[in-house]
Amino acid sequence: MSDLDGQSSNGHKQRWNSASAPDDHEAKRIRLERFVADQQLLASQSIPTPHTPHVINTVRLPDASRKKILVTGGAGFVGSHLVDRLMADGHEVVVLDNFFTGRKANVEHWLHHPNFSLVRHDVTLPILLEVDQIYHLACPASPPHYQYNPVKTIKTSTMGTINMLGLAKRVKARILLASTSEIYGDPTVHPQPESYWGNVNTIGVRACYDEGKRVAETMMYAYKSQNNVEIRVARIFNTFGPRMHPNDGRVVSNFIIQSLQNKDITIYGDGTYTRSFQYVDDLVNGLIKLMNGNYDMPVNIGNPDEYTINDFATKIRDMCGSKSEIVYLPKVADDPTQRKADITTAKREIDWEPTVTVDEGLKKTIEYFKGEVEAAGEIIPTGPDAVKPKGGK
Ligand SMILES: NC(=O)c1ccc[n+]([C@@H]2O[C@H](COP(=O)([O-])OP(=O)(O)OC[C@H]3O[C@@H](n4cnc5c(N)ncnc54)[C@H](O)[C@@H]3O)[C@@H](O)[C@H]2O)c1
Repeated sequence: MSDLDGQSSNGHKQRWNSASAPDDHEAKRIRLERFVADQQLLASQSIPTPHTPHVINTVRLPDASRKKILVTGGAGFVGSHLVDRLMADGHEVVVLDNFFTGRKANVEHWLHHPNFSLVRHDVTLPILLEVDQIYHLACPASPPHYQYNPVKTIKTSTMGTINMLGLAKRVKARILLASTSEIYGDPTVHPQPESYWGNVNTIGVRACYDEGKRVAETMMYAYKSQNNVEIRVARIFNTFGPRMHPNDGRVVSNFIIQSLQNKDITIYGDGTYTRSFQYVDDLVNGLIKLMNGNYDMPVNIGNPDEYTINDFATKIRDMCGSKSEIVYLPKVADDPTQRKADITTAKREIDWEPTVTVDEGLKKTIEYFKGEVEAAGEIIPTGPDAVKPKGGK
């Protein structure tokens, strides 16, 4: 038997005899058909990669409903999950990222797809693109990472947001800002509704992030009132899930990494302070609903299920089947004592509430971190001090 290139199964070149050789035209037609089939397959799904081994199918939207969507910070933890959803829904997605905390591996499974583009770009510099919607997520979210270069963090939230608002104004795109519960600072109202103005230390170690996001919100509403830019503002509460940076330094990743390696679980303070944690899929649903709904005032997106840090550490240790000890270290400066989302607005205005329980989310996140620990051999979790994000692109 010969294949189409005239190559025999044992690898030797063969001469076609005129009776059995497929003619050139037929061979080309078959090759073209295969090529088209391959391209169609590539345009209908993600490619399995070590980081994202499962296949994500993409629907084919009619031109009229397919949007061109920019995701800044799309190679980061939240951004890459949002990209997965937008791609699966059949949109064209452009990711802008400077890879400060993001990783190419987070979006590598889309690089071949005709609806996807990845641009290495810093949002503190202007850029012109034709897009219909902008999800503006670019900004490090973990305290040790955003404190590593506080001036850059401020530039990212201020100049970066001005640049994206300028783009939105110019191309008439709707823009959603990933704001944060950190704008409430160390809240004196509990849980926090959007009407609460916050309690932020303007010169504290977290101010580069908190105040940066506060002024980013201010800029959003200035562009709305002055330039009619269509805006959406999501105040995101603590979020966790696969693709979190292993050196994120916050409790979810640290407790899991410490538990998986049977190392001491470190709690800063006495562990009686509380946090609420939402799974990343819930957040992505909320962001998409907010973007495509009509409500343009700030909306809290978080899971109100509240835990003391002590209970959370014990839960993670138990779920990992770990022998880790819990140890207590001095409290971190300006760390809020309580944080819990009031999600009345999200329920009423965008019909959103979380559906993934913390336990379900933790199971998936623990699986992800098992892979990260195995691949790295050992991971030494980041403490509360400012640190440059480690790890490959
Ligand atoms: N994860 C959370 O719990 C949480 C909570 C509240 C708000 N948020 C907000 O959500 C967004 C995404 O957070 P995340 O957890 O995915 O963080 P992340 O650090 O994983 O992602 C941020 C992404 O932005 C990129 N980036 C940073 N500075 C940039 C710049 N100047 N130009 C271009 N790209 C830049 C990073 O490389 C990274 O890919 C952030 O804006 C964050 O403030 C996150």
